[in-house]
Amino acid sequence: MKNFKSKILKTLTAVCCSLFAAHSTSAQSLEEVETAEIKSPKILIAYYSYSGNTEQVAEAIQKQTGGDLFKITAEGTYPADYHQMTTQAKKEISQGYRPKLTSKIDNIADYDVVFLGSPNWWGTITPQVSSFLQSYDLTGKKVIPFITHGGGGKQNTVSDMSAQCKGCLMEPNPWTGYGNSTSGLKDWVDNLGLVK
Ligand SMILES: Cc1cc2nc3c(=O)[nH]c(=O)nc-3n(C[C@H](O)[C@H](O)[C@H](O)COP(=O)(O)O)c2cc1C
Repeated sequence: MKNFKSKILKTLTAVCCSLFAAHSTSAQSLEEVETAEIKSPKILIAYYSYSGNTEQVAEAIQKQTGGDLFKITAEGTYPADYHQMTTQAKKEISQGYRPKLTSKIDNIADYDVVFLGSPNWWGTITPQVSSFLQSYDLTGKKVIPFITHGGGGKQNTVSDMSAQCKGCLMEPNPWTGYGNSTSGLKDWVDNLGLVK
């Protein structure tokens, strides 16, 4: 009888221990999953802007997301005359010119999400934005284009950006706005579903 009681006690202890172990393991992994899910992504807002419109949109995105703002700058100048300026830009684009960048990000690997802004120049992104895409490895990052234009809409800007963005996870719903308009921008950012 004594032996039987001790056997029962041992069995009950073993069952309790294994139940407790199973419970604590699953509780721990649940905690890990929850922590991973609520972790905010690290956001970069990189943009090129010649006359300030794209910069204003970039600043509004920065205010809303709390991300880091980065202005793409490059070597070279453009003529003050608008017609001459646009002619030079057209030539640069047709020749696939990639100016040397003069601003630099040291910690690109840290970012999970990159908003990338460009004005529409002759239906595509600017050479400076192309240089940016050539200079940084954005593989596996979520890249969210934002485009400003003078009436032509996005034309080939987003598809060209996407083609030059090797291994990027492109956001299928980019921002396209006329000039410096930010009308609807807040809702657009909200609907991207970035955790804040
Ligand atoms: C060289 C050049 C080419 C442009 N080409 C186009 C174009 O093809 N279609 C369009 O809608 N707007 C075009 N625009 C207008 C710009 O996309 C628009 O003004 C943009 O908001 C400027 O942005 P930014 O102020 O940040 O430079 C062009 C502007 C420049 C300077």
